[in-house]
Formats: sequence, C-alpha cells, structure tokens
Amino acid sequence: MKTFPSEFADLLTPKGRRILEGRDNDACGKLLKPGHRFVALSGVLDARKAAACRDELDRALESTLTLMEDPIPPESIFGMTENYEELLPKTVRVRTALLESRRSRSWAAAERVGLVEMMRSDSFAAFAAAVSGRPLRRKWGIQVLCYGPGDYAGPHNDHHPEDAEAANGYVDMHLTFATRAVAHQWLIYSKQGHFSQMRSVNTLGGITLYRLPFWHYTTPLMAKPGAEADARRWVLLGTFLDAPEQRRRNTAIEPPPVSAASVLLHKR
Ligand SMILES: [Fe+2]
Repeated sequence: MKTFPSEFADLLTPKGRRILEGRDNDACGKLLKPGHRFVALSGVLDARKAAACRDELDRALESTLTLMEDPIPPESIFGMTENYEELLPKTVRVRTALLESRRSRSWAAAERVGLVEMMRSDSFAAFAAAVSGRPLRRKWGIQVLCYGPGDYAGPHNDHHPEDAEAANGYVDMHLTFATRAVAHQWLIYSKQGHFSQMRSVNTLGGITLYRLPFWHYTTPLMAKPGAEADARRWVLLGTFLDAPEQRRRNTAIEPPPVSAASVLLHKR
C-alpha cells in the first residue's frame, strides 16, 4: 500500500474535515478577510499519518533532491555608488524535488509512493479553496522542497506582475513535515509595512496558506545540537490561481458553502 493516500482528505483529522466541508467558521474563507494574507493551521493532519508521510519523504525522495540556490550577489555591496542605496534581490538556498518533468528521478519516486496523485487530488485543491474562500483553477502547480540546516529564503514578495492570471494575487498552500532533529525555523511576514509577524514552521503536519503577494522570509533552519544530519523540513506546496469569472463547467474547484448551522453554533 502507498503511504500517501490517493485523496488528500484521507490525511485529515475531524477538524481538517470540518474545514474541507465548510463547517469551520474560523478557518473557512479566512484569506478573504481584510488583513488576513497568512493562515497557519494545526491539528488538521492526523499526527500518525503525518509522521509516516515524513518518513516516506525521507526514504523515497531525499536522494533525488536538487540544490536550488541564489546567493547574495557581491555587486549588491561592491557595485553600490551611493550610501544607503542597497537593494537585495531574492536570495534562497533549499533543495527541491523536480516534479516538472515526468522523466526526472524525483517524479518517478514521488509517483511510486503516491505523492503525485495525492497532490493532484481534488480534495487537496478543495482544502485550499475552503480556506481561501475563492474558486480556484482546476490546474494547479505542485512542488516539493526540503530545508536542511542553514537553508532559508530571504525577503521576497512572490508578486508576478508579468503573469496576467497571477498579477492580482494567488494562493499558496504548504504542508510541513519536519523531523525531530529540527530546533527551529520561522516564517516572518509583514503587516502594515513592517516585518513584525513571526510564526514557527517547525511542525509535523502543519498547514500554512498564503494570499500572495506580500513580503515574507523564512529563517535558516537550525538543527538540534549534534543532530544536523537528521534535521530536515519537508514542504509540499500547491500554487493555485483564481478561477476566471467566466469559465466553463468543471474548470474550477469551488469553496464549500459555509454552513449556516456552523455560523449559529459559533455565535453561541
Ligand atoms: Fe515565498
């Protein structure tokens, strides 16, 4: 049997299912609320299943990863001609499993353990639609990242002004599977013009959702002392575009109707 279920919904706890079905008044549609561009959910993935997923990622995918790195360009310092005029492009170091090509080793490994099928399942997108509160395009992007000791992403905003479909914003959903050897890693994000918000992403089965663009960065992953070799944080990532208003049937994943009963219960 494959470790990853063919439907993402099979990883969910009762709380996770309530969100998926539109019965959680707090989480459903949260990214539509003004000032809410980031949501972190816990207790949504079954803990034992999440641990099995993490172990399978370690086993099946670690040897297929490719390093992705954009270091600080030296010209960003030595090319400066005016004081205080420094500009930092997006910097990053992380390993990734290449899933764009069906011929890659990563794709074959991810397919074998059922990961591709799960990340392509309707309930994976439906969960993102439920929290974002918007209909999402049926075709979405998937990616796998693995942060090891010292891996990070510098400040960036993920704005794509050149892509018409993403220029007005889009949604990212990240599932996190960290090993026990991770000491900490944080997501820092901006609110009202300052990097004032901070959330631990050192979780096993945590889900974070983003209504991009906004400024954020991910601090270097730190291992517990002496445990560097085992410290990894896996991220399963889905990128979802808004469905166009004029669309053919079955081309969008709709958010579930938020039930009136849950609204009433919530008020009491
Ligand atoms: Fe980002």
